[in-house]
Amino acid sequence: MIKRPRRLRGNEIIRNMVRETRVSKASLIYPMFVRDGEGIREEIPSMKGQYRYTVDQMYYELERVSDAGVNMVMLFGIPECKDEAASQAYADNGVIQRALREAKKRFPHLYYITDVCLCEYTSHGHCGMLKGHDVDNDETLKVLAKTALSHVQAGADMVAPSDMMDGRVRAIRNLLDQNQYTNIPIMSYAVKYASGFYEPFRDAAESAPSFGDRKTYQMDYHNSREGIREVLLDEEEGADIIMVKPALAYLDMITRVKEVTNLPVAAYSVSGEYAMIKAATEKGWINEEKIVCETAVAAFRAGAQSYLTYYAKELARYIDEGKIG
Ligand code: PBG
Repeated sequence: MIKRPRRLRGNEIIRNMVRETRVSKASLIYPMFVRDGEGIREEIPSMKGQYRYTVDQMYYELERVSDAGVNMVMLFGIPECKDEAASQAYADNGVIQRALREAKKRFPHLYYITDVCLCEYTSHGHCGMLKGHDVDNDETLKVLAKTALSHVQAGADMVAPSDMMDGRVRAIRNLLDQNQYTNIPIMSYAVKYASGFYEPFRDAAESAPSFGDRKTYQMDYHNSREGIREVLLDEEEGADIIMVKPALAYLDMITRVKEVTNLPVAAYSVSGEYAMIKAATEKGWINEEKIVCETAVAAFRAGAQSYLTYYAKELARYIDEGKIG
């Protein structure tokens, strides 16, 4: 035998030398839930270890995130009052707007991305304005753009539309540019599937649709070319970063997307992925650390440059400890 792949697996040093995928804390983004109210830090039952924080409690978590060496957070807002118009999504004193103003004051070195969507703010839980039982695409665009602008005015460094309406990236880009925010990037949830993996999130954000489902706007998971179409449209509309979501069940899409765009690609390891690992860990059936490392590296190996994960703090520690890297 001349060719023996095991020669390059002989010890840690040589294995590290030929490693193909390098993981860095700089690529991690930590999603957080901020709610209206005061003095509250409540654990999300389906996402053990993740909490809804009021603005005054959010600081402690931002400190932990920052101490772990994670520099980017993605903020989701949970308003006290939801209505048909999603008015708290763009209210000047809305939960995200207040959170941003305060967080930027106390932790100016962190980078703040906001999820731009209406499902957390509508009384019916759909991601847009309703006309009868349908989500009205073009009416929704105006509200999304207004919401994104209000986030940026409150201090968001980047906005991330996750609603899956047609034309939302352009609508947001136009309004930001008209207001001189030409340098604020848009990370588009371009390849977002109608997925059962969001269930714990909807519990966390109290955003489950009160009727129907999200299949008229999020994508059918049987399709991959449709995802590519979304990527190309969003690139044309001015997206700066393309996101694939969920991550674990869509690794093929991360790789395919990399082939068709030169934009950076992010992957979102969503609430259901987190919940499954947590639940199996609690049962003692898997080793949490090993599974978290392996699934994260899988997303990077597939081609992601950045990774949104509820395990960001833990991953940062694993990287520090040399468990992955
Ligand atoms: C808002 C939004 C959702 C997620 C991110 N932004 C929920 C949904 O589309 O139903 C899911 C995130 C997660 O599951 O961790 N539209």
